[in-house]
Amino acid sequence: MLVLGIESSCDETAAALYHSERGLLAHHLYSQVALHAQYGGVVPELASRDHIRKTLPLIQQSLNTAKVTQADINGVAYTKGPGLVGALMVGASIGRSLGYAWQVPVLGVHHMEAHLMAVMLEPNPPEFPFIALIVSGGHTLLVSVTGLGEYELLGETLDDAVGEAFDKTAKLLGLGYPGGAALAELAEEGQPGRFEFPRPMIHHPDLNFSFSGIKTFALNCVKQYGKDRQTCADLAYAFEEAIVDTLLIKSRRALEQTGLNRLVVAGGVSANKKLRAVFHQTIKSQGGEVFYPRPEFCTDNAAMVAYTGCLRLARGESNGLSIEVKARWGIDELE
Ligand code: KG4
Ligand code: ZN
Repeated sequence: MLVLGIESSCDETAAALYHSERGLLAHHLYSQVALHAQYGGVVPELASRDHIRKTLPLIQQSLNTAKVTQADINGVAYTKGPGLVGALMVGASIGRSLGYAWQVPVLGVHHMEAHLMAVMLEPNPPEFPFIALIVSGGHTLLVSVTGLGEYELLGETLDDAVGEAFDKTAKLLGLGYPGGAALAELAEEGQPGRFEFPRPMIHHPDLNFSFSGIKTFALNCVKQYGKDRQTCADLAYAFEEAIVDTLLIKSRRALEQTGLNRLVVAGGVSANKKLRAVFHQTIKSQGGEVFYPRPEFCTDNAAMVAYTGCLRLARGESNGLSIEVKARWGIDELE
């Protein structure tokens, strides 16, 4: 079964082709980062307009790369939510219409499920069950995963998502938008020990998170110590250290509480090198295993949409002709 996947939930337009036996045949992406950078954040209307311009050329490019034609496609999957409604509508309209024209089934895919399933595209994917920590620009979730669509939400952020905290702190340090990766790079020049950020909620027995306090702490430090390059690097170091530490404490607690030993970390922030190194070392030393998607499949992409869509379409799932997207959509609402 060959499935076309389309991603347009935020500021990345992407298309991919996944074949149930041959694997991932093509994936292409266009990032709108430069378009939104001048505004310091994603402008939803501009995102939608740009998705309209880029989606069909990316689909054609994917067909060319995979050396297949429209006639070879057996199903279409698009990101249905959560995300920006106007942006989601573009991928949904194009995906649904292509499916209608080609007379193949079409399915709207959950963005966070796609993020967590991205790890299955790696050479040694984890077996079910496992714990998933999904850390993106809009969400921070700890989920117990027993199979496709079998999710128990163990914890989530009560305020900012981790990626959002990275982006806001990066902006504060003058690193532009989205600043997660830039902050991580600057942190490499930071001196350990100069600042000690709080680790919010670690003494609460539950598995929820809160990151707005860390962000405020950074703001207060800047007010007190200024923004010279070394201070920014030291702050970036301490910020990253506190975030990674907090995520690790709660992830380990989730493993302990469920008795599981496999952890999947996914979503944009899972591209973070410090996080990957610290998690790998700690979880491994405790007899556990940690799995990540390759960095380019941590952030938004269509490979994860095509793959997840393929699994669900193969189970016989599909949507009708009316196009539906969801700005908010809990992963535990899935079946
Ligand atoms: O999953 P994603 O591409 O989009 C959403 O679904 O939100 O995640 C984007 C987020 C942004 O906040 C970005 O700053 C963050 O992931 N990010 C990183 C890194 N690369 C991307 N944060 C920390 N370190 C990185 N290397
Ligand atoms: Zn995402």
